[in-house]
Amino acid sequence: MSELLRLGIIGCGSWGKNYVRSFGTLEEVKLAGLCDLSSKRLESLHRRLPGAVITTDYRKLLDKTDAVCIATEAVSHFKIARDALEAGKDVLVEKPLATSVEECERLVEMAAKKGRILMVGHVFLFNRAVSVLKGYMSDGVLGKIYYIHATRTNLGPIRKDVNAVWDLAPHDISTISYLVGAQPLEVSATGSSYLSDGVQDMAFISMRYPDDISANVHVSWLYPRKTRETTIIGSKKMAVFDDVSTLEKIKLFDKGVMKEPAYDSYGDFQLSLRSGDITIPNVEVKEPLLAECAHFINCVLKRERPLSDGVEGLNVVRVIDAITKSIRMSGNPVAV
Ligand SMILES: NC(=O)c1ccc[n+]([C@@H]2O[C@H](COP(=O)([O-])OP(=O)(O)OC[C@H]3O[C@@H](n4cnc5c(N)ncnc54)[C@H](O)[C@@H]3O)[C@@H](O)[C@H]2O)c1
Repeated sequence: MSELLRLGIIGCGSWGKNYVRSFGTLEEVKLAGLCDLSSKRLESLHRRLPGAVITTDYRKLLDKTDAVCIATEAVSHFKIARDALEAGKDVLVEKPLATSVEECERLVEMAAKKGRILMVGHVFLFNRAVSVLKGYMSDGVLGKIYYIHATRTNLGPIRKDVNAVWDLAPHDISTISYLVGAQPLEVSATGSSYLSDGVQDMAFISMRYPDDISANVHVSWLYPRKTRETTIIGSKKMAVFDDVSTLEKIKLFDKGVMKEPAYDSYGDFQLSLRSGDITIPNVEVKEPLLAECAHFINCVLKRERPLSDGVEGLNVVRVIDAITKSIRMSGNPVAV
């Protein structure tokens, strides 16, 4: 390995460009190669990185790099990640890790066998607001967690290779499983296709976690408003994470329901509502994608297991696989 880590970026489309920018700011990294099927997309990036290998064939980039970041469409993740691991590269793959459980298992096995770092871009795990929520949950601020509700909607981008579940739900599944600290036991989901036959534009997903925690997720790319919101209902307090808001990412509601003895009949309880202050904590502004990139590089240099490693990517795809089966059965529950 040269002094600087030679990184290649495969897929320089709308999201891949953000990786070029983020990795480009890390001092341990030399952007050694860029690859995209579109030479037009590469042109403008080439001007900014004159020394880098620029190619439309990712295999030409592999022997010029120590690690690669894959930001192509979901259906191509498996093949490119497999070839990169085979060539002995450390790999960061955008979500979803791959588009079947079997493919993810193969990537995880290959990475272990080759002693390579395999990380998936579950960017919300690097979002400061999610760390604050995790702290609330592990410090007992919210009390016992009852349920979690998440909404991820917008008008577009509409994908051709995968449906809205594969495209959007990895964020919520990875975030909620990280917060709860477990995989869901069972899911049920319904979804509908309006724009192209058989490609769901929206879905309503229910997940049952251990300790009687339930979570609902609404994903859609056919919706008038951009919403990225997660609400956690606890026995003591409730928290709302709004990733679209710049100043009020988290609101902590000192609201709840208390059970008090009822005096007219022995053993009975009455429920009284408690409505206290709403607190808006100061969440340090730090770009999650930059934190994700820095984490990948740190794991590569120190040979440490990433927070969102291949197994985490596989776990999320296991849940999506169960969701897909449930949608096919009009919402019947499917074990994960
Ligand atoms: N984490 C996030 O918030 C987030 C946001 C948007 C997209 N994404 C993910 O990023 C990935 C790309 O999404 P996008 O919106 O940038 O799509 P895009 O269509 O804008 O870009 C994909 C690019 O990959 C290139 N490509 C495809 N196959 C290739 C190959 N074999 N070799 C080289 N280049 C190839 C295409 O030419 C295209 O330029 C997807 O996995 C998506 O889920 C993540």
